[in-house]
Amino acid sequence: MQKLAWWQHSVIYEIYPRSFQDTNGDGVGDLRGILERLDYLAQLGVDAIWISPIYPSPMADFGYDVADYCGIDPLFGTMEDFDRLLEEVHRRGLKMILDFVPNHSSDQHPWFLESRSSRKNQKRDWYLWRDRPNNWLSHFGGSGWQLDKTTSQYYYHAFLKQQPDLNWRNPAVKAVMFDVLRFWLRRGVDGFRVDVMWLMIKDDQFRDNPLNPGYRMGQSSNSRLLPIYDSDRPEIHDLVAEMRAVVDEFPDRVLIGEIYLPVQQLMTYYGSDLKGANLPFNFQLLQCAWSAEAVAQVISDYQAALPDGAWPNWVLGNHDKARIATTVGARQSRVAAMLLLTLPGTLTLYYGEELGMTNVPILPEQVQDPAEKNEPGLGLGRDPQRAPMPWDSSLAAGFTSGLPWLPLGDDHASVNVAALEKDPRSILHLYRRLIDLRRCHRTLVSGRLQSVSADNGVLRYQSQREEEHILVLLNMGQDPERITIESGSVLASTHLDREGQKVSGTVDLEVAEGIVISLDM
Ligand code: NOJ
Repeated sequence: MQKLAWWQHSVIYEIYPRSFQDTNGDGVGDLRGILERLDYLAQLGVDAIWISPIYPSPMADFGYDVADYCGIDPLFGTMEDFDRLLEEVHRRGLKMILDFVPNHSSDQHPWFLESRSSRKNQKRDWYLWRDRPNNWLSHFGGSGWQLDKTTSQYYYHAFLKQQPDLNWRNPAVKAVMFDVLRFWLRRGVDGFRVDVMWLMIKDDQFRDNPLNPGYRMGQSSNSRLLPIYDSDRPEIHDLVAEMRAVVDEFPDRVLIGEIYLPVQQLMTYYGSDLKGANLPFNFQLLQCAWSAEAVAQVISDYQAALPDGAWPNWVLGNHDKARIATTVGARQSRVAAMLLLTLPGTLTLYYGEELGMTNVPILPEQVQDPAEKNEPGLGLGRDPQRAPMPWDSSLAAGFTSGLPWLPLGDDHASVNVAALEKDPRSILHLYRRLIDLRRCHRTLVSGRLQSVSADNGVLRYQSQREEEHILVLLNMGQDPERITIESGSVLASTHLDREGQKVSGTVDLEVAEGIVISLDM
């Protein structure tokens, strides 16, 4: 069997830097904070960290509005802090993935300031300017077009008006942005997570989007239209392939795409001959109902749609989506951990998932996220899943010596790293155990997934590689179940209390219990 690339057997850990660890008392996390916590991450067993944007930014969208693609925002530290962090990451045998935000810059980026200064400016065409808006909508509510008084034209912004979209059809934009990638690759970063990859190219004729017949009141206003002409355009694939070629100029790097599309469309982002994204993020588990049947279907559909040779990946959470322990509940969050960590391919965790962190309720006066400010009350706000990481039971949870930029969870006195460390059966220990299991049993990473089924609320699947067969049983239903199985021994259980048990003929599962069994062959 071919040796796997590092990113193929990796568990990637997303750090939302504002919320991970503050070291200067301003209530916002920073690079030195990440450095301080690297040993925790190494001990957890993850292989790579992906850090959400740390570039200079007015922070209208908390860093996803970049004002300088080759710098570090002082809020997070300096370039020296960055280099030191990268060195320490590598010294521990870990990898670092940066967030690359190519679809739009900040409206304070010098490129946009130039572009908006006159219709004749040489950077005018670096952004999307029109005399009249079409009907495209912003993902954060309202029209996607903003009238700019200086030149009496409209510019397009798929997100905030402070985030004008770059024109990726312009070769100069491509050239300068590819050099941005090279700048970081030369510094030694191991890859990129590319923000909204599927939105980067828009219809060249700016045709109106059709109405969405499935739109219901209460949904985000953006879903009133079908995103036919402002997303997933055919030309995107050449661009992604070019981007991949740049990344491949450097050995052993990875290109990951953020893409929210149905599975068949998602798969096209691997590119023809797999020359596109190494990993188009697979968000299927974040979007499906939490039942054995639904998850079995998702796994089977994903596996069936995967192009030959394409490497799978799975995600349970990120900074844009409700935390998994909130969507499935505390008991099932252990089952969710076992599900994620026993699926083949590359896996991504979101900071705090390993603590069973839940969404933190945000009062109206505490709201920070522009998604909530622009369309209040629809549940679109992302602050609840961005609350600071609770490290201990002290007043500010060991996150900061100041006032945290977002409130801590009420439960942080018990849900924190220090407390969960002490309890050998805690969810934190479950994550460690499962990550370690993947390391010891490569069948879980690269085995052939088979016999995916759901029966009486129990999800069942098997991974096979060479002589090893590993069976996973997850009780996602409301009742205890007795399952018929062949004989084997338990490698791990969700409550960390059955390891080494011999099983034969049948096995009993409690509600919200899962087990991993090595089958005798
Ligand atoms: C996707 C990012 O994950 C999200 O946080 C951000 O608001 C938008 N892209 C705009 O960059």
